[in-house]
Amino acid sequence: MLTRTDTNELQFQGTDVSMSETGQSFFSVRDIHSYYGESYIVQGISLELNEGEILALLGRNGAGKTSTMRTIARVDDPALQRGEIYLNGESLHDKKAWQAAQLGIQLVPEDRRIIGGLTVEENLVLSQVAEPKGWELERIYEHFPRLAERRTQIGTTLSGGEQQMLAVARALAREVKLLLLDEPYEGLAPVIVQEIESIVRQIKELGITTIIVEQNAVAALKLADKAVIVDMGEVVFSGSAREVLDNEELRNEYLAI
Ligand SMILES: Nc1ncnc2c1ncn2[C@@H]1O[C@H](COP(=O)(O)OP(=O)(O)OP(=O)(O)O)[C@@H](O)[C@H]1O
Ligand SMILES: [Mg+2]
Repeated sequence: MLTRTDTNELQFQGTDVSMSETGQSFFSVRDIHSYYGESYIVQGISLELNEGEILALLGRNGAGKTSTMRTIARVDDPALQRGEIYLNGESLHDKKAWQAAQLGIQLVPEDRRIIGGLTVEENLVLSQVAEPKGWELERIYEHFPRLAERRTQIGTTLSGGEQQMLAVARALAREVKLLLLDEPYEGLAPVIVQEIESIVRQIKELGITTIIVEQNAVAALKLADKAVIVDMGEVVFSGSAREVLDNEELRNEYLAI
């Protein structure tokens, strides 16, 4: 049976496993609404995550996934008009993107944004200019041997998969409390997807709290603990990743898989 928005509140209360002893989740998004100019896009999204959990944020093209991630990262567009966001007891809804980054929100956007003209290593070092720092270069290269081999190569000349590795590595080079991965497998050949998947698995083992947006829903759901499906800027399902994998009706209606 589908769980729709109007029953969502009940479901959040019913599956209330994400609250810590203090009664607060590690990460919590409460009824956020955001706009691109006059366009009302994120229409009341709520999420809860425990420390170390992975959430798959799914939905059709144009459902509002990227907009939700951008709102969480406190990028100016879309503008958050209403709602609250908390990470580890700190409010984010009243912060700018650079402050959210300081508090540990790291967004790896769909287009990866590798800085042109800079080598792999320079891209990594640049993200460590601002405090607080995350992983040292040595540790990054241990986890990403392909980047170590290519440390002097210009970042934009890397293959798509390598650029995705660099984008993730750059996020880890800063202190990360919540990693936001927007379509990390997009445009990559299956064999490269497997490599990125193994990196995401390592991230999971390290206990980094993560939200992953993916068109490849099955791949994301296999890694995720929880799943939220959005449609037209609203939550239409919230539950465990397993429930989505097991619910064909839900997958047919919202995910086309
Ligand atoms: N800068 C913008 N200005 C106006 N509308 C926008 C802007 N960016 C996105 N939108 C609109 O917001 C809606 C949600 O877009 P969003 O990019 O969040 O979807 P998505 O779920 O990430 O889709 P996809 O799976 O295709 O990446 C879409 O209707 C889109 O056209
Ligand atoms: Mg998107």
